[in-house]
Amino acid sequence: MPTLVIVGMQWGDEGKGKIVDLICPAFDAVVRYQGGHNAGHTVKFGDRHFSLHLIPSGILHPETACVLGNGMVIAPDAFLAERDRLRAAGIDDAGRLFVSNRAAALLPWHAELDRAREAARGDGAIGTTARGIGPAYESKAGRYGLRLVDLLASDLEQRLEALRAVIAPQLAALGAGPPAPAAAEAGRCRAWGEALVEHLADGEQLLGRWLAEGKSLLFEGAQGTLLDLDHGTYPFVTSSSATAGGAAPGAGVAPTAIDGAAGVLKAYVTRVGGGPFTTELTGEVGEYLRRRGNEYGTTTGRPRRCGWMDTVAGRYGQLLNGVDAIALTKLDVLDELDEIEVCTAYRIGGRTVHDFPADLAALEEAEPVYESLPGWRASTAGALSWDDLPAAARDYVAFLQDQLGAPVEIVSTGPRREETIVRPGGALERLTGGRLPAVAAGRD
Ligand code: GDP
Ligand code: IMO
Ligand code: MG
Repeated sequence: MPTLVIVGMQWGDEGKGKIVDLICPAFDAVVRYQGGHNAGHTVKFGDRHFSLHLIPSGILHPETACVLGNGMVIAPDAFLAERDRLRAAGIDDAGRLFVSNRAAALLPWHAELDRAREAARGDGAIGTTARGIGPAYESKAGRYGLRLVDLLASDLEQRLEALRAVIAPQLAALGAGPPAPAAAEAGRCRAWGEALVEHLADGEQLLGRWLAEGKSLLFEGAQGTLLDLDHGTYPFVTSSSATAGGAAPGAGVAPTAIDGAAGVLKAYVTRVGGGPFTTELTGEVGEYLRRRGNEYGTTTGRPRRCGWMDTVAGRYGQLLNGVDAIALTKLDVLDELDEIEVCTAYRIGGRTVHDFPADLAALEEAEPVYESLPGWRASTAGALSWDDLPAAARDYVAFLQDQLGAPVEIVSTGPRREETIVRPGGALERLTGGRLPAVAAGRD
């Protein structure tokens, strides 16, 4: 049975949660492979509304198993609180919510350090989610961090002491208060470890077994390609591998076990936090996109910066992810515009550039070269079939498809699960084992 990665093609918040929720009935399990509770994935159906941060969006489907992979940084308290919120909302996770025991533990000290650093950066702040993501990945890469399995180790207090020895001087240098003593932290960590036991598993063995049994897996990306630590707009990035390639090491499966990828692309671009954003719109149109698209962070509530579609960044995303198909979201948000601009190149230092630059100064200097497409000035909200879309909307989709070199096989026309067009007969049909959900089949 197929395995598929769902990856964000821009700076996050493309609507990954909606798309994962939509197609996960075709899969036996959904696996997160990077990031932590910096993510905020929204799922809406009927009159229900969920915000997921650590737990895969598949949890809302009672038949779907969910795995938090080793590549994640997991705050035990945030995980337990999210699980309990879901339980209170009637979601039964019994026997189907697994957490890799090799995942890195994100502890309160990491969040303290994240906040202190951001405050010290002033105007140069990255605009992180203040959850401690960067420091937690640093501890992992520095080999002095704790994994979730270590919360149950007999030498827990010594391990915490070693971690504290690295973090305390950094906090002091930043003028922040001292971290709690290791002994006190050990008590909390041990309690978290015990509460986690019912979920902890050897993720690699679990997924390996499922693959051998012919089960199908969906890998749910968090953040997005341009926030990837290696390939994004460094240093204005997150600290994990947010591209599709991160799925194998982050979930603990062989790269050859992954059959394909689908990219989630918003019909315009948003970004939260600092960093270059060539097509950003600060005037009326930007305000329109923010209002109409309800562009406020799911995790932090911050207003998202909004701008026109950028196919220089999009083609770079396709170069890195090689997606078999695109799910285009929020097309309905463009409904009222007379003209829609699409950036197809940058002007940098008098030159026309088609490749996404590595140099931050060049990116900051880049001026967008736009192609103007006519708007459709008609409602696509809730449209259920490709033929229901106005011709200009279909042309817009076709233009993006040509620019990015991948077929648009899902078009999302509203936040709810039901508000979706699926174009059958393509790569996604194959990569879901012919089980594209009927609710969204859009076949008339
Ligand atoms: P994620 O982080 O990629 O899962 O995306 P978020 O959930 O953070 O942000 C996407 C937002 O857009 C959420 O509020 C969704 O409910 C909403 N959304 C998703 N698809 C559509 C769509 O096609 N149209 C509209 N209007 N809203 C959408
Ligand atoms: P989802 O999964 C949008 C951004 C932050 C900041 C940068 C670094 O919902 O798409 P971090 O806290 O990770 O160190 O912050 O990354 N960021 C996101 N932006 N969506 C996300 O997740 C994000 N996760 C992190 O705003 O610019
Ligand atoms: Mg989000």
